[in-house]
Amino acid sequence: MERAKILVCVTGGIAAYKAPGIIRRLREANHEVRVAATKAAFRFIPEETLSIAAGGKVHTDETWWEESGRVEHVSLARWADLVLVAPATADSMARAAIGLGDDLVSSTVLAGAKKVLWASAMNPEMWANPATRRNVETLKGWGHRFVGPAEGLMASAEELPGFGRLAEEADIAAAAEEALGDTAR
Ligand SMILES: Cc1cc2nc3c(=O)[nH]c(=O)nc-3n(C[C@H](O)[C@H](O)[C@H](O)COP(=O)(O)O)c2cc1C
Repeated sequence: MERAKILVCVTGGIAAYKAPGIIRRLREANHEVRVAATKAAFRFIPEETLSIAAGGKVHTDETWWEESGRVEHVSLARWADLVLVAPATADSMARAAIGLGDDLVSSTVLAGAKKVLWASAMNPEMWANPATRRNVETLKGWGHRFVGPAEGLMASAEELPGFGRLAEEADIAAAAEEALGDTAR
């Protein structure tokens, strides 16, 4: 597989604790991986854990404003062959679908990311909600790709099984390879 530049964007869902496994797998496949995270992601996974998985700094809303002489969302969007949002919250997809760019992750998606793959994870009612359905269709209409969510038990014991679980690591990695190999935008 050809070496590619992948920006993994971690957003604030329970499945954020699985992000290091995804990052490691992509790096093991010899891809160059950078990691960005939303403020909410750090409620679920420490920055240090993501940084170790990334083998470097995590791009955050803080680094976004610290970089002098560079506009980080533009440079990241140009750098990445693929932006993989994993896990992707309902919120992050909704913001992308209406063109918000109020943090580093949403701004990077907005700033012309070449290919975007959403690995969505949320409670099944959130995934089934008409607002989420509309947002997914909007993003698909722009050529964005989706992997999952998968069916099965949710992290919280309160939830009934349904479509909402983050797709398996191997399936996310396979979807990333497929997106990279696809000549369509
Ligand atoms: C305990 C807890 C768990 C959450 N889990 C999820 C989740 O799995 N998926 C999701 O879409 N939102 C989840 N949320 C809601 C998001 O954290 C919230 O929408 C947040 O604004 C997301 O921010 P971000 O998209 O900028 O990362 C959860 C919230 C809390 C408090």
